[in-house]
Amino acid sequence: MTVVDTMSSTEAAIAVDGRHVAHNYSPLPVVATSADGVWVTDVEGRRYLDCLAAYSAVNFGHRNPEITAVAHAQLDSLTLVSRAFHSDRLGPFCQALAELCGKDMVLPMNSGAEAVESGIKVARKWGTDVKGVPAGQSNIVVAHNNFHGRTTTIISFSDDETARRGFGPYTPGFRSVAFGDADALAAAIDDNTVAVLLEPIQGEAGIVVPPRDFLPRVRALCTERNVLMIADEIQSGLARTGRTFACDHFGVVPDIYLLGKALGGGVVPLSAVVADRDVLGVLHPGEHGSTFGGNPLAAAIGTTVVAMLRRGEFQSRSAELGDHLHARLRALIGSGVVAVRGMGLWAGVDIDPALGTGKQITVRLAERGVLVKDTHGSTLRFAPPLVITAAEIDWAIDQFAQVLADPGSHLSGTAL
Ligand SMILES: Cc1ncc(COP(=O)(O)O)c(C=O)c1O
Repeated sequence: MTVVDTMSSTEAAIAVDGRHVAHNYSPLPVVATSADGVWVTDVEGRRYLDCLAAYSAVNFGHRNPEITAVAHAQLDSLTLVSRAFHSDRLGPFCQALAELCGKDMVLPMNSGAEAVESGIKVARKWGTDVKGVPAGQSNIVVAHNNFHGRTTTIISFSDDETARRGFGPYTPGFRSVAFGDADALAAAIDDNTVAVLLEPIQGEAGIVVPPRDFLPRVRALCTERNVLMIADEIQSGLARTGRTFACDHFGVVPDIYLLGKALGGGVVPLSAVVADRDVLGVLHPGEHGSTFGGNPLAAAIGTTVVAMLRRGEFQSRSAELGDHLHARLRALIGSGVVAVRGMGLWAGVDIDPALGTGKQITVRLAERGVLVKDTHGSTLRFAPPLVITAAEIDWAIDQFAQVLADPGSHLSGTAL
């Protein structure tokens, strides 16, 4: 008998990953093989309630039937032409998404980081062509503890040392101020500032909601100083917080929306920069592009996602069930939970560090059939697909309460 023969399917799959998958993540020891709605099944047939939803890319549930039906149909007709030709899918998608955002135009891309990179390029080009900032002299104001992705330019304005160390030289042209401090932001803006780039609610930082007057003040400052307000709604947008955009809670409309994750329906990578013509119109042929950006398969799926968002039911579910989730989590304050933040079905939960690291708690939760992800040591993130029910939330929080009550215990009979 070889060593591999004695391994469980889970251990064998993790061993192959360990040898052949670059170690740029530290995943939970769960090997998914199928999923439906909010439930994920692993290679040994165990079921887990997904309370992460692929960092909000699966807002509409795993294999949402409305989305998979469109994807199947599109696979049978046309998948990719590049932007060298038109397709009959891209225009309708961009029109629908622009309308959802109350804007004129859409620049389709693939990953979230690409949307951020594209937004930065658009803002810089707008700065030179429209605002009149000398070429190469512009700056963009960002916030401490931001997370916008991990490309070279984006990590250049991150203050996460793990994301930065060893990856220099960094891209210049960014200045960072405290998130939520409108005075600091006002002081950072000068004549060469072309944009303020923010997550309206910081996701990876631990679901940090700014003071109520912050985003309205940023909006007013950007208008006064002729600076573009860019809202990175890649994680916070598309119904996650109980409104279509997190900005909606604050009565704010940015100049540029950056969207991704759930836009691809949990099926394909699809991201977008959405803005009015006086901003996105600065791009001309050859200045920016992507072979896969706006491909017909993604565009067909994205059109369906926009139609689903138009109905409002996912926003309502997130708002109503989010109240329930937050009430249940707040009831655990003092019983292992230190603080709860967030909006809608999106909660950052600080746990008492004495109970163990966030990662240890997520492993205990996975043993009990609940998938969540830690961030920054002692914070857990609850962001289930928006199709979750109140009873499923109750079950997940019951498991969480039991883990907090006895964080050291392992369930017998599980192979994790
Ligand atoms: C706010 C925000 N922006 C950008 C990104 C990057 O998206 P992607 O991983 O698709 O590149 C993320 C990913 O978590 C995010 O949360």
